[in-house]
Amino acid sequence: MTEYAPRNTPLEQLAQLETEALQALEQVQTPEDLDRWYHTYLGRKGALTAILRSVGSLPPEERPAVGGRANEAKRRLEAAYDARAEAVRQAQLARELEAGAIDVTLPGRPVGPGHLHITTRTLRQIYAIFAEMGFQVYEARDVETDEMNFGLLNMPPHHPAREMWDTFWITDEVLLRTHTSPGQIRVMRERYPEPIRVILPGKCYRYEQITARSEHQFFQVEGLAVGRHITMTDLIGTLTAFARRFYGAERRIRIRGSYFPFTEPSIEADIDCILCGGKGCRVCKYSGWLEIAGAGMVHPVVLANGGYDPNEWSGFAFGLGVERPAMLKYGIDDIRLFYGNDLRFLQQFG
Ligand code: PHE
Repeated sequence: MTEYAPRNTPLEQLAQLETEALQALEQVQTPEDLDRWYHTYLGRKGALTAILRSVGSLPPEERPAVGGRANEAKRRLEAAYDARAEAVRQAQLARELEAGAIDVTLPGRPVGPGHLHITTRTLRQIYAIFAEMGFQVYEARDVETDEMNFGLLNMPPHHPAREMWDTFWITDEVLLRTHTSPGQIRVMRERYPEPIRVILPGKCYRYEQITARSEHQFFQVEGLAVGRHITMTDLIGTLTAFARRFYGAERRIRIRGSYFPFTEPSIEADIDCILCGGKGCRVCKYSGWLEIAGAGMVHPVVLANGGYDPNEWSGFAFGLGVERPAMLKYGIDDIRLFYGNDLRFLQQFG
């Protein structure tokens, strides 16, 4: 950069600066040159900026003329800069094209096909097994009323069994379903007076700490059969057939008495541990058994709430997990992986 001799008047300095800057701009070829030029003349510490700043220290009568001229120079240099910047950009593009840096004839990068989520795959395996036994798939809603999720399932307000499900409440009356069982009432009310054989898959929500073993969102598959002569034997046979198809033909089943407000009697079904075969290991907590379902005969109050006269009709219901069985089957040790969106995990189940 030239030093401007103090003997020049400010107006002379400006003219000289402008000429020099425009000449220098002619030489600019690259984006780096361009930056350097801007910095030298128009930047915060640039030559023109310095002159503009010094206007205030001139004798008052000189200020308007010098200020006006300096602003004019600034406008012209900015316009010249913009034009040059565009020219540099175009030249750069042309060079890249010529060098083949952008080969517009190359095919685009392929977008890989997606695949099903491990939960979806597991659900479909479950559907297929129950479809063979004549169960239709019915989807109920995720957002439920207190009435459907609890009340009509034989849990009036303040029933202690409500404590079995920590609940996400939306209002005093509306909640995120804590299990798929409210779907039982919806199906019965829709199907009456037909016999029923359905499964109800869906996401359930519980106000719980997330750990390697438990999520606050997870899937269940509810099963419901209602007919004129349905017995506990049908229930046990159905669960046994399912377990052997899903976990392997050699599985043994164990039935334990249990309690749910909406079934009577209530049971829980276990299979012998698929890892140790019943000898006892870390996965089955050395019991030799793994729980696969809560179930029972539909409680007469629930049948009646669904519109079916319990003196004429009977039914069974069960609730299966989805993620836990998938964890067992594929040896997954942390339930958080299912909805953590880590592709390295998900892509293993393509
Ligand atoms: N709804 C129960 C639960 O989430 C499971 C269940 C379903 C039990 C159907 C009996 C009959 O724990």
